[in-house]
Amino acid sequence: MVKLIVTVCVALVCAAGLSVGQEIPAYIKQCRRSDPQLPDCLKASLQHLRPYLSSGIPEIKLPSVEPFVMDQLSLQLTGGPQGYRINLKNMEVFGASNFTVRSLKLSEGNQPFEARLTIPKLLIHAKYTSSGVLIIIPASGSGDFDAVFDGVTADVKGLVSVSEKPTGMHLRVDKLDLNLSIKKPRLSVSKIFNNNRILTEATNLFLRENGHEVLRALQPQLQKKLSTEFTGIANQLLDNVPIHYFLQD
Ligand SMILES: *[C@@H]1O[C@H](CO)[C@@H](O)[C@H](O)[C@H]1NC(C)=O
Ligand SMILES: *[C@@H]1O[C@H](CO)[C@@H](O)[C@H](O)[C@H]1NC(C)=O
Repeated sequence: MVKLIVTVCVALVCAAGLSVGQEIPAYIKQCRRSDPQLPDCLKASLQHLRPYLSSGIPEIKLPSVEPFVMDQLSLQLTGGPQGYRINLKNMEVFGASNFTVRSLKLSEGNQPFEARLTIPKLLIHAKYTSSGVLIIIPASGSGDFDAVFDGVTADVKGLVSVSEKPTGMHLRVDKLDLNLSIKKPRLSVSKIFNNNRILTEATNLFLRENGHEVLRALQPQLQKKLSTEFTGIANQLLDNVPIHYFLQD
């Protein structure tokens, strides 16, 4: 009985605390507006989010970014009517939560905020289908596609706006521009052409020797998808967490 009363009281106190905005969720590392090193503090807040992004934050319906799921990319890799085309579906990206924030420039006036993140390794797993002719071999098939991107740098630039909600003022990302640079791409396919070893190896030889070119073809779509996904994640967080939780006066 005593235990029950204590539990109810604790619950009430917690609820009261939350309603006046005292209870800062564990995934937030608060900064002070007056901090002369505010950008460094915000960098640390972003770093602090990493394990929470990795596991997901159920209370604000933020799914885990490990893996990070993307629908579909398609690209034509060689020219002509019989050009080699590939289509990637059910893409899963692993390692995105392992970022380090290298620099952060806050938005001033109408200027965008800018950040540079590095990720040591991104792994992409997808379902692959292809058509056309690759060099001289027929390249129609389907199977698994894997990419390992070592040394990823992401430059992001974004515009934010502020709006008022019952919980307080909230930020929103309106636009996000993202550029990726990847030191070493390694692309490969497997289980394609009914496991025809020669066709599979020819495709892998092509992907190995042309990794940077394939990546260049893939990059605009990849960047666009990633920036849409990142905007969604950021807004899911910002929608649920008022600015004064991140930034104390
Ligand atoms: C994150 O990085 C650490 C250390 O570099 C590594 O052990 C771990 O596997 C990485 N996690 C993912 C999801 O890539
Ligand atoms: C991405 O690259 C383009 C072209 O080089 C450049 O205009 C744009 O400002 C870059 N965006 C970011 C976020 O760095």
